[in-house]
Amino acid sequence: MTGSYPATRLRRTRATAWSRALHRENVLTPADLIWPLFVTEGRGVEEPVGSLPGVSRWSLDGIAARAKEAVALGIPCLALFPNTPVNLRSDDGTEALNPDNLMCRAIKAIRDACGNDIGVLTDVALDPYTSHGQDGLLDASGYVVNDDTVAVLVDQALNQAEAGADVIAPSDMMDGRVKAIRMALEMAGHCNVQIMSYAAKYASAFYGPFRDAVGSGGLLKGDKTSYQMDPANAEEALREVALDLAEGADSVMVKPGLPYLDIVRRVKERFEVPVFAYQVSGEYAMLEAAAAAGAGEREALVLETLVAFKRAGCAGVLTYHAPLAARLLDG
Ligand code: PBG
Repeated sequence: MTGSYPATRLRRTRATAWSRALHRENVLTPADLIWPLFVTEGRGVEEPVGSLPGVSRWSLDGIAARAKEAVALGIPCLALFPNTPVNLRSDDGTEALNPDNLMCRAIKAIRDACGNDIGVLTDVALDPYTSHGQDGLLDASGYVVNDDTVAVLVDQALNQAEAGADVIAPSDMMDGRVKAIRMALEMAGHCNVQIMSYAAKYASAFYGPFRDAVGSGGLLKGDKTSYQMDPANAEEALREVALDLAEGADSVMVKPGLPYLDIVRRVKERFEVPVFAYQVSGEYAMLEAAAAAGAGEREALVLETLVAFKRAGCAGVLTYHAPLAARLLDG
């Protein structure tokens, strides 16, 4: 209950640093961060991603080094995205099923470098492997077919679990994929491999730099509006989350992040489950551009946006700013 002035003066508890610290409702720590990394072929390779200043694709040795860095910083989990060589991309994306693909080798490189000191989250969707840049299989008209795609995604998820993935994160938005993947993981003996579903993933204009990073941007024909959600919808997000939880998701994700904090809050209040958000590539680029333009102080912008996710109800955030934020929080 709040009384009235002057008995109640809300500035009283804000007057000193110790008191502000004592009354702080939400605290961001490195343990709240998931660091997305882009993987590329080669040795000793670092390829800066033009549209993501400060973010690079790394070859396997670099990925292992980033994993050690993350452990040292207290970041508990990495999210991996491969830049598949163009000659291995195909209409049906079968490179996703190759047990020796870039993704599987990256999982093993991290495991070799860090053992079980860090979690490895892997993206399930076909876009880094298809020649058309869509997340699933196309019919003759170019429509992304649901059930046949799910069958491939199940095999992709099993392939990643066999390689040692800890968290399977389906980002494809096909109907029924969480149930199919959960059943297949159980039957294959992977009962402790988690599923974090991209449950409410919107057809967003904020994914552009990511598509550059995985090399699918130039290939993409059309858009993803027949499977990713309409940014105008919120009730539908709650239905998506309800279905994914019923199908066996251990945690759910909302994506993008900042423009969709209302969805995070509604999901958290309705379902009381672990909710994550993905502060996506376009959001990172927007913050970096604002800082470069002198429109705000970089470190402060980063930490303010990240604590906003916690306040909205997130258990954690996928963010390209993870190493910077962890360093700032440590210092
Ligand atoms: C692909 C996928 C995308 C992202 C994560 N997984 C892009 C897309 O759906 O086109 C975007 C992440 C980002 O923008 O940082 N299934």
